[in-house]
Amino acid sequence: MDDLASLDYFSNAELAQDPFEYFDHLRSRNPVFREPNHGVVAVTGHQEVIEAFKNTDALSAVNAIGGPFPPLPFVPEGDDITEQIEAHRHQFPIFEMMVTMDPPDHTRARSLLGRMLTPKRLQENEEYMWQQADRQFDEFFDNGRCEFLGEYAKPFATLVIADLLGVPVDEMDEFRDRLAGDTRPRVGALDATPVETNALGYLDEKFSGYINDRRANPREDILTGLATATYPDGSTPTVQEVVRPATFLFAAGQETVTKLLSSALKTLGERPEYEKKLREDRSLIRPFMEESLRMDSPTKVDFRLARKRTTIGGVDIPAGTVVMLCLAGANRDPRKFEDPNEFHLGRKNLHDHVAFGRGLHTCAGAPLARVEGHVTMNRLLDRTRDLSISEIEHGPVGARRYAYEPTFLLRGLTELHIEFTPA
Ligand code: HEM
Repeated sequence: MDDLASLDYFSNAELAQDPFEYFDHLRSRNPVFREPNHGVVAVTGHQEVIEAFKNTDALSAVNAIGGPFPPLPFVPEGDDITEQIEAHRHQFPIFEMMVTMDPPDHTRARSLLGRMLTPKRLQENEEYMWQQADRQFDEFFDNGRCEFLGEYAKPFATLVIADLLGVPVDEMDEFRDRLAGDTRPRVGALDATPVETNALGYLDEKFSGYINDRRANPREDILTGLATATYPDGSTPTVQEVVRPATFLFAAGQETVTKLLSSALKTLGERPEYEKKLREDRSLIRPFMEESLRMDSPTKVDFRLARKRTTIGGVDIPAGTVVMLCLAGANRDPRKFEDPNEFHLGRKNLHDHVAFGRGLHTCAGAPLARVEGHVTMNRLLDRTRDLSISEIEHGPVGARRYAYEPTFLLRGLTELHIEFTPA
């Protein structure tokens, strides 16, 4: 068993396919355990992960996405490296995005996002989702089969965010082609590429154009609302300060939602008893999605950098330590979740999972992701009489073959082939 702890989580292809035994093993050694390959402290306990999320005084989000990659651009000195982090912040991946910011910059960036995602906008966006789900099902329904990620989930998740931000209707196809047809290596790939920035470059250009245009020529549209949003103190953000949170929504909400929808559908295809229950009682869709988030957390891990010497779960964490919060591991902590490796719809503490993180950086898109799950599952059940996993593509029951994306950061199927009888 000691061997399991010595594996390199960041490059081991088998662990990327199934990290759960590894997380269980680390937790059994200590819920706060220093892995030997990169000196990263892996937190696999539920209460310890929450403790770390709350400890924003000592733990910085500057390395939230990249973790130990690239290595720290400085040698930590002493018990408080706040000044060193600030001097080198611009050398960390996606340092301009809110997910890596600390207060007070984070507070400002997040306040702007709140002004973009108003309840009215979210409501209109939900209406778009129902229509868009139908449009996409129409594209392949007569075939009785589909590859769910490429034909539904990726374009759906992309277009929902494009609609949320008010991308003009006649540019939606371009967004779909540029962002949802992309098969390049993913965020947190095992070759230690923390982020893939081509898509962000495209989005940056598009949204800078929109915001500049709407500031010069305001209209009655959503982009004008974005372009004229102000900070709580009434001051006007720069164009880039508006563009960044807008473009980050695609980075944060496209892959993750695709992964959630496909893992939930896989469970439905594998477990006919759940399919039957959900067809009979649609109110079970919400708990079904929560349990999917717990069992197959799309964001497996999330990182922090200790800027001050501190403790987590009583374990000493020197300044400069890279802390890996194993959300997928915490969500299967037996001290928190009874029978943690089983999918249970009736779980009492269903909502206690940490798939969306906690605290200051808790996922800003969680309500949106939940509605996307609700709409998709409802429409799928409305429009089919039955559904199953394709045996040709994934093998027979008992000998299924599924592949997960080779990344240390995210957990998601590469493909999911399903078959169904249209209703
Ligand atoms: C199932 C889908 C999703 C999962 C599992 C997920 C997971 C997470 C997690 C774990 C964080 C916290 C990161 C940290 O603490 O370092 C986060 C942050 C964030 N998420 Fe999500 N997310 C999902 C969908 C979305 C969607 C649909 C959007 C928006 C369209 C979104 C926008 C964001 C933003 C803006 C942040 C940064 C918040 C901040 O730094 O204050 N996410 N997400």
